[in-house]
Amino acid sequence: LASVEVDVSSLTPGTSLIVKWRGKPVVVRNRTEKEMKDGEAVNLADLKDPIARNANLPADAPATDANRTTPGKEAWMVMVQVCTHLGCIPLGQEGDFGGWFCPCHGSVYDTAGRIRKGPAPENMAVPVFKFISDTKILIG
Ligand code: FES
Repeated sequence: LASVEVDVSSLTPGTSLIVKWRGKPVVVRNRTEKEMKDGEAVNLADLKDPIARNANLPADAPATDANRTTPGKEAWMVMVQVCTHLGCIPLGQEGDFGGWFCPCHGSVYDTAGRIRKGPAPENMAVPVFKFISDTKILIG
């Protein structure tokens, strides 16, 4: 399917679900307050990939925490959960930065899905998406 509608009404802070979109797993995570704060506190100069990789923004948008989400819904991460190294599926809420950890070759992503350690070259991709109501997201 080109687009997929996701009901996120069951997601309390700190929980996620994964849907398949164009054959790839897309994670929807309702981040905790701490996960957001940790993401916001990161100095952009410390990022391996300073680009947001958010299909909803210009290609050169910087990888701030806010730019990895969508305005007014900054708690929510919607992201293709595929490692940008060689395409393994990272595990959620693992690794040194409390985000994602790829068991294949040890790439570590932060709470905004930005690459922080290991061989992956880019932040995980944020697909085109929007909230179509308070509890529904349209991906694609
Ligand atoms: Fe994820 Fe290599 S595929 S670190």
